[in-house]
Amino acid sequence: MSDYKRILVTSALPYANGPVHIGHLAGVYVPADIYVRYQRMRGREVLFVCGSDEHGVPITIKARQQGCTPQDIVDKYHSIIKKSFADFGIDFDIYSRTTSKIHHETASEFFRKLYDEGKFIEKESEQYYDEEAKTFLADRYIVGTCPKCGAEGAYGDQCEKCGSTLSPDELINPHSAISGSPLVKRKTKHWYLPLDRDEAWLRQWILEDHKEWKTNVYGQCKSWLDGGLMPRAVSRDLDWGVPVPVEGAEGKVLYVWFDAPIGYISNTKELLPDSWEQWWKSKDTKLVHFIGKDNIVFHCIVFPSMLKAYGDFILPDNVPANEFLNLEGDKISTSRNWAVWLNEYLEDFPGMQDVLRYVLTANAPETKDNDFTWKDFQTRNNSELVAIYGNFVNRAVVLTHKYFEGKVPANAKPELIDAETMAQILPIKEAIEDYIEHYKFREALKEAMNLARIGNKYISDTEPWKVAKTDLDRTATILYTSLQICAHLAIAFAPFLPFSSAKLEQMLCLDCLSWDVLGHSEILPTGHQIAPAQLMFAKIEDAQIEAQIAKLQATKAAHEAAAKAAAVAAPAAPKAECVFEDFEKMDIRTATVLEAEKVPNTDKLLHLKIDTGLDQRELVSGIAQYYTPEEMVGKQICILANLKPRKIKGIVSQGMILMAQQPDGKMRIITPEERLMNGATIG
Ligand code: 2FM
Ligand code: ZN
Repeated sequence: MSDYKRILVTSALPYANGPVHIGHLAGVYVPADIYVRYQRMRGREVLFVCGSDEHGVPITIKARQQGCTPQDIVDKYHSIIKKSFADFGIDFDIYSRTTSKIHHETASEFFRKLYDEGKFIEKESEQYYDEEAKTFLADRYIVGTCPKCGAEGAYGDQCEKCGSTLSPDELINPHSAISGSPLVKRKTKHWYLPLDRDEAWLRQWILEDHKEWKTNVYGQCKSWLDGGLMPRAVSRDLDWGVPVPVEGAEGKVLYVWFDAPIGYISNTKELLPDSWEQWWKSKDTKLVHFIGKDNIVFHCIVFPSMLKAYGDFILPDNVPANEFLNLEGDKISTSRNWAVWLNEYLEDFPGMQDVLRYVLTANAPETKDNDFTWKDFQTRNNSELVAIYGNFVNRAVVLTHKYFEGKVPANAKPELIDAETMAQILPIKEAIEDYIEHYKFREALKEAMNLARIGNKYISDTEPWKVAKTDLDRTATILYTSLQICAHLAIAFAPFLPFSSAKLEQMLCLDCLSWDVLGHSEILPTGHQIAPAQLMFAKIEDAQIEAQIAKLQATKAAHEAAAKAAAVAAPAAPKAECVFEDFEKMDIRTATVLEAEKVPNTDKLLHLKIDTGLDQRELVSGIAQYYTPEEMVGKQICILANLKPRKIKGIVSQGMILMAQQPDGKMRIITPEERLMNGATIG
């Protein structure tokens, strides 16, 4: 904690275009909540800020799909998300939203100050425009073939298949997702944050002054910085968002990634109108952003650069981003409904929030992507929470009622208290502290569970139920010791499993305990009355797990069936009309494949050498899923010969093979009915 007086914790504002799932909890909200609960227990002044991110193109896409307004979408999901977080005990001081008035005012003022002080570059550029839909297209509305992996349907900002960040210009065959039309470019004016000018101080601040940041975070920042920063547009042509507060900027809004992080500030302002500045502008505030790995560049580079440009604001002390959680071996995907939604989990496992919190922390993707499986969920519940923690507490409490009327027995033989057992508590406390302060929540949780193991082993080894037959004094000592360990467990687990700790405190008739009590040998005084035993954790049966797996399998089958049905029923949308001159510009010819090989490190790309009749040339084509290199050699194909050459995976691709493609992605090459000379023109 060093010299800080207060800690401001933010967790990424989730997009309000769908409910939240286990990936969100594991990656961001559970670790942030553990950190905050722990700091509060230590008596530190903490503020935990979050809210819904309600702007951005995906929300407008969803509204369009559902025939409602973006406001309808965000209203619906904001309340679902807010409730899920509350249900899982994510204990925000405020959970607000970026459509709030205060946020619009704050983000607008932020932009305006930077604008007035000349901190932006104003630039006209050519952007993709859909003439049919009469609108500029955000990157998300532009789809095409991914230049990195060859997947169809990649977006202009990202390929969901391989995860590459893209720009629309990189897409092969870009077209509009709204009308299906090919795109034209039109001039439009936007404002850019000149990140390149910040490179020097960002390098110093991150690469030199924050070497302690997590390796995944530091590494990503380093690769961005080494690649050289470019000015970034902070406005968009869109009708949903915070309007750009400048004359002549009608039809333009702040880019969602400009306004969203300002949401942390607006939400603090909403909660603390009079003292918010102390949280954001005092050097003795420690600012920590909890986020997922896809948000690293925005929180480590773009937002700090915005804050610095504005002036007065502090910068984050740490950005402990996590990697991603997969589900049963597959990437979690909202569009494929491949997720465990928090609201549905609670319907199937009512009251079992802590089990999920436990499993997601024990298996958190802290250093690499990790997999959630229902089998592991069951094992961790049954053999750790039930068999160790729950079993120990239950035995200690039940036996105290059986032999001592539910009163903490006198430690009749102090010399017999297991000093060795008790001596293990303090190092565990210190280890938990050290791990949490360093954002290593998995390790911290392991330590808490080790304490439960110590208790469980102690009571098994000392067998008070047997000793009671001959030596009630010794039994008293064993149960006295066991109950002290139970009280320690309530504290040690409280940041991780708040519902269970509350239950255990109720059983032990204890008030909220402070962290400092951990390690004290007597928390429960002799004679203290405890309540009857309650079940801490329930066993999860095979049938429950099988039902969850079946549910996922049904989801997968339904998705595949829907994709097939769509492929059969709906060919791609027709394209906008074109004139013969457009067609005439294309030099389409026959050619023969001379050589073919896979492009290394890709699944979909083949590198071909072809004879066009005019020359021999090379091209890269995304057909490796459908043709082996051997099948391609010797085939006569049709190519667009005068397509501007482009580099794909380091190979200059000269031309494009004509393919027929079904909506499900299946592709076949177009070949003349009988073999013709190479270079025969097609038209
Ligand atoms: O990736 C996301 O879900 C974004 N909505 C996170 C925004 S974080 C912050 F900047 F608000
Ligand atoms: Zn890709």
